[in-house]
Amino acid sequence: MKLLDQFNRPLRDLRISVTDRCNFRCPYCMPAEIFGERYQFLPKPQLLTFEEIARLTRIIVRLGAVKVRLTGGEPLLRQDIEELVAMLDSVDGVEDLAMTTNAYLLPAKIDALKAAGLKRLTISFDSLDDEVFRVMNGGRSGLKKVLAGLEAAEAAGYSPLKINAVVQRGVNDHTLVDLARFFRNRGHILRFIEYMDVGNKNGWQMKQVLPSADVVEIINAEMPLEPVPGNYFGEVARRYRYADGSGEIGLISSVTQPFCGSCTRMRLSPEGRIFTCLFAVEGVSLRDPLRSGATDDELEAIIRATWGDRNDRYSEIRSSLTQELRERRKKVEMYHIGG
Ligand code: GTP
Ligand code: 5AD
Ligand code: SF4
Ligand code: SF4
Repeated sequence: MKLLDQFNRPLRDLRISVTDRCNFRCPYCMPAEIFGERYQFLPKPQLLTFEEIARLTRIIVRLGAVKVRLTGGEPLLRQDIEELVAMLDSVDGVEDLAMTTNAYLLPAKIDALKAAGLKRLTISFDSLDDEVFRVMNGGRSGLKKVLAGLEAAEAAGYSPLKINAVVQRGVNDHTLVDLARFFRNRGHILRFIEYMDVGNKNGWQMKQVLPSADVVEIINAEMPLEPVPGNYFGEVARRYRYADGSGEIGLISSVTQPFCGSCTRMRLSPEGRIFTCLFAVEGVSLRDPLRSGATDDELEAIIRATWGDRNDRYSEIRSSLTQELRERRKKVEMYHIGG
């Protein structure tokens, strides 16, 4: 029987966070003053092994997931990540296998990822202005390193790439047109993401959000745009194409135009909990039953029950919450369960 949640949403996508570590400290995700030298990340024995991840993926795919995305933290920090890619590529029913990365380690990893069967890549890239870029990754990388990662991905045949740019009013909003022009000329799909109140550590305020409608206006004034219908049910980005036919951009507007109604994503954390929303407070552990000998059918029953109970729609109710209520909610962090 088809698995649906409380709002009749099917399970279509599985996003697997393979590590809670990152080599960047983007202030909107892992502010350096909190995630310093002494911050305790998950110890290795707590992480799911690749075999455990592959086993859970097989079960979740049986329940309807067809798209799998590897995230983190920074997924390329997980040792031998290409081995996991190969294992997931051989799971029957996985139609799409993608990764979201900051690209810093791509030059060293890209050939192994390609050979292992990674189909698509999304690269996080917030500005082409070196100084702004550094601010947005907490001073961990200049542009050069990440551009080298991008070029390595292109050379390996990953094209078009999807590029994620978080937009923060007053931080990088004066550099959006340059970014759009650069990626248009290279044939990639740039997506502008509204800065979100994920987790509890980034000090999010509504006034730091530049609504996507404003972003469209800014780009349109320089390079005329027209809307394009979505590619598939549940697509998070709204698409626009350049009127001259030179490519497209996407707008991910979780704050001003929430898309919970078609949200089909389940998230698996590095220590084996499943979360049914990016803004969830709690997850359900699969690792504990798995390590105490649960069968596939028993694990499937837990996943079914979790998805069946799902009634998350945080982005749709965000605006009805007061600042205090929002801050009191102890949400899981983005670097922990992936974007
Ligand atoms: P495609 O498979 O290429 O269509 O990827 P995608 O559109 O799912 O893109 P990706 O996984 O890169 O998601 C882009 C960004 O959108 C994420 O990094 C998040 O910032 C945001 N996002 C993705 N899923 C959700 C979601 O369920 N809720 C919210 N609020 N934001 C999301
Ligand atoms: N708001 C919007 N996007 C975010 N990302 C991380 N934190 C936030 C946030 N607070 C984005 C990253 C990356 C993706 C995984 O999620 O830039 O592209
Ligand atoms: Fe790392 Fe991505 Fe978070 Fe930046 S947004 S700190 S690159 S996990
Ligand atoms: Fe899905 Fe939660 Fe994002 Fe809504 S807020 S789209 S339910 S992950």
